[in-house]
Amino acid sequence: MAWSKDSWKKYPIKQQPVYEDKASLELVTTRLAKLPPLVFAGEVRALKNKLAKVSRGEAFLLQGGDCAESFLNFGADNIRDTFKLMLQMAIVLTFSGGCPVVKVGRVAGQFAKPRSSDFEEINGKSLPSYRGDIVNGFEFDEEARKADPKRMIDAYYQSATTLNLLRAFARGGLADLREVHRWNLAFLKNAELGDKYSELSEKITQAINFIEACGINATNTPSLRETSIYTSHEALLLPYEEALTRIDSITLDAYNCSAHMLWIGERTRGVNEAHAHFLSGVKNPLGVKIGPSAKADEIKALASVLNKDNEEGKLNIIIRMGADKIADSLPQIFRELKKEGLNLIYSIDPMHGNTVKAGNYKTRAFDKIMQEVRMFFEIAMSEGVYPGGVHLEMTGQDVTECTGGISNVTEETLRKRYETQCDPRLNADQALELAFLMADLVKRART
Ligand code: PEP
Ligand code: CO
Repeated sequence: MAWSKDSWKKYPIKQQPVYEDKASLELVTTRLAKLPPLVFAGEVRALKNKLAKVSRGEAFLLQGGDCAESFLNFGADNIRDTFKLMLQMAIVLTFSGGCPVVKVGRVAGQFAKPRSSDFEEINGKSLPSYRGDIVNGFEFDEEARKADPKRMIDAYYQSATTLNLLRAFARGGLADLREVHRWNLAFLKNAELGDKYSELSEKITQAINFIEACGINATNTPSLRETSIYTSHEALLLPYEEALTRIDSITLDAYNCSAHMLWIGERTRGVNEAHAHFLSGVKNPLGVKIGPSAKADEIKALASVLNKDNEEGKLNIIIRMGADKIADSLPQIFRELKKEGLNLIYSIDPMHGNTVKAGNYKTRAFDKIMQEVRMFFEIAMSEGVYPGGVHLEMTGQDVTECTGGISNVTEETLRKRYETQCDPRLNADQALELAFLMADLVKRART
């Protein structure tokens, strides 16, 4: 069937809210369609070129941020701290991999959430599930849980201001290499991790000293004080995604201008369904989440739809099988896909296959997360595939949502600062520790 912005409506679709007020939905999407794009097609092309390097094994992808952004926790501190964390992790990985790290946030649009059940029941009362702030409210009452189209407008403006600040940080001095390294040294000192990671950070110090001694510094070399950070989210709520899809005036191609990169979740990746069809028509780099039950044939079929032209840097296969399952099927998947000669990026989401319950809290153990990352790298390397990236739920804040790691969160202390409205995120120390632990793997993968 021919593609147009709204041709997805003819396909079966999952995980959409029911909007009772159809007139309001129409008004909102008409208005959104007239509002300025959040990203520019030229930026999207720049990201695709960087991701093409990842698909050739010449760069590494770091994708991360909130499980779900929220209206309540929106503020400059949150944006700044996650931005700083991304850069701190990127420095470690850039140095150890000896290659550029492409930084893509789950940010400025990561609002809509797929749910395992359409309804939530508490004490015998049943209400529609919370589907993210772009759809309905988190509070468990009837009014809040109604899907309200006007929330899309709020999400749009929050994304716009978030992007504005990210661009300012990226160009305005917050990305200075020496400064970012200094934050890492402070982290190592505070966390009393000195010994474990000091060798690596000492080498980074020496490298910075060396290039400065050669006369290359942040004053005369913009790339030492500036960076690029791109945005991404799950393209789940298709009325919103459609309204922000535009025809680029230079190439006349369709771009989804709600973010640089979009992905399809594990629950909505049916190859003959609306989400795959919708994204098949846009030029953006795409991702697709792949859970433990996936077969190589499904991924092949998805690649033929989402990357018809077999472009480099176009399609990111985001593996999220869980530490206990990844070894069962990933080697075979790699073997079969390798035969096809497909240009794919493979990255690991070690979060979504490792969620467990601890009392009333959903959590994830740091060791399991690290174990899945390690197994992903080992399996890829032994199959002759490049492990191209990592996809994390993380925040720059000191939350207590995942257990373990140096910050030593336990199941008993989860409640202290459990702030996520959806899945548990790594806190700043846990995410940075993960980057230090991954350093060696990235180095081996690159050599
Ligand atoms: C997510 O990334 O928040 C998510 C819902 O992932 P998945 O589709 O892999 O379950
Ligand atoms: Co999540």
